Amino acid sequence: MKLLHIDSSISGAQSVSRTLTAEIVKCQKALHPGIEVVYRDLAADPALHLSHAHVDAWTGGTVEGAALSCDLETGEEYLAELFVADIIVIGAPMYNFSVPSQLKAWIDRIVVEGQTFEYSESGELQTFLPSAKKVIIASTRGNVYQPGTPTAAHEHHESYLLTVFSFLGLHDVTVVRAEGLAFGPDTRDAAISKARFAIATIAV
Ligand SMILES: Cc1cc2nc3c(=O)[nH]c(=O)nc-3n(C[C@H](O)[C@H](O)[C@H](O)COP(=O)(O)O)c2cc1C
Repeated sequence: MKLLHIDSSISGAQSVSRTLTAEIVKCQKALHPGIEVVYRDLAADPALHLSHAHVDAWTGGTVEGAALSCDLETGEEYLAELFVADIIVIGAPMYNFSVPSQLKAWIDRIVVEGQTFEYSESGELQTFLPSAKKVIIASTRGNVYQPGTPTAAHEHHESYLLTVFSFLGLHDVTVVRAEGLAFGPDTRDAAISKARFAIATIAV
């Protein structure tokens, strides 16, 4: 079995999502002895934003420069890692109501027409990833965005990630959430404890 572990927080050792993904991976390793883990720290080593040069290269144009060439290779590696992973663990802090731009840059490399999806001539969506993958998202945010609250409409974070994975045909998605992290130490500690409890109950 293979597990793809992705972190995207810019907060280093203080990061709650990094703590949670580490714990998820530890639990999954205990559940699946021998599971092979591939780790990507997208904050430390982000992909470039897509540019006209990328589109040019994808459509048969010349690849200009070592940086672009290396970045295109990274994109291919992201795809290869995703195709073979049985479990995908993603650390996803909320930044300005959505995901970190580094995580978005990863998404831009895995949602690729002709590689992970395609539309038929009649407009039907076809997806190419093996669907028997488990996705576990460690969602962290300062505020709370529960349905029915005034802030619910600001939530473009978990809902966005769920849209992405559903679009790719991956429907087995578990969200482990720690929110209200900006509300002071008591709420923060309670939110993290709740997320830790949820992690311990995930059995894949
Ligand atoms: C640049 C930045 C933007 C943020 N934007 C939001 C936001 O829009 N909504 C929110 O609830 N929290 C926001 N936060 C708070 C983070 O979601 C919260 O600190 C969370 O713990 C981040 O996860 P991490 O500890 O893994 O970095 C933001 C934090 C940073 C650093």
